[in-house]
Amino acid sequence: MLITLKNILKMAESKDMAIAAFNVTSLEGVLAVIEAAEDEDTPVILQFANAAHSKYISLEDIGRVMVAFADRSKVPVCVHLDHGNNFDEIKRALDLGFTSIMYDGSELSLKQNIANTKYAKILADEYGASIEAELGSMGTEGENENILGAYTDPEVARVFVNETGIDALAASFGTVHGIYKSRPNLDFDIISGIRKLCGIPVVMHGGSGISDSDFKKCIDCGVRKINYYTYAAKYAGDAIKDMIKDKNGNIYSHDILVEIRRNMVKTYKETIRVFKNTQK
Ligand code: 13P
Repeated sequence: MLITLKNILKMAESKDMAIAAFNVTSLEGVLAVIEAAEDEDTPVILQFANAAHSKYISLEDIGRVMVAFADRSKVPVCVHLDHGNNFDEIKRALDLGFTSIMYDGSELSLKQNIANTKYAKILADEYGASIEAELGSMGTEGENENILGAYTDPEVARVFVNETGIDALAASFGTVHGIYKSRPNLDFDIISGIRKLCGIPVVMHGGSGISDSDFKKCIDCGVRKINYYTYAAKYAGDAIKDMIKDKNGNIYSHDILVEIRRNMVKTYKETIRVFKNTQK
């Protein structure tokens, strides 16, 4: 069943949990996310980061697959555009039936970020879709770790959220996209501060690679959506290395795809269980 980000995050709120937002780049990824969510009987977010992943598959190809599988899923599924940074791709995603978009204006001045996010919200509203936006800067693969200047200021977040009317805020509090080069040092006060001043769900980007205990602390402080990709893709890659090592004779592409899916289902199920936050 297709559902908006706003509604899926309401479900998360009522259970003090976070919804997993898994990036997908293939049919196997989509199948693995849906299978894991159905096995765990838990809502999930399927998302596509066009800016980073259009080199693997187009928004139109993966988007149709995402919407079709979300629609017939037994659990609520939100189909979300991750890191939308131009209005053309946002419109394309909405035309495909995405129920949520992210506008990422984090590289812009506050004034320009607010203006563009407001326009992205008008577009999302036309389709009855939700909107996530970003304030602060997260960076990739460790380049940005522990640079306090890039972290989100809750006071500025209050202005940003009031002006734009967004449904969820992607905030920078110590996570980064990609592989962590050193143990992340998260600032939980930023999450609590945003929750207190803005009252809307906080989104964690760069979720893969974070420890279970840090996930729990973040969820307890008010994170309700956690973006997760790199480590699931890496674990599936590791599984293929092992498979090739163990295999004598021919290796077939269909067996590789099945192994990738099997491994991703395992990672996603474990991750969803942590995000359910049932251990008090
Ligand atoms: P990771 O790939 O580091 O898990 O981050 C995913 C993400 O934040 C997508 O927006």
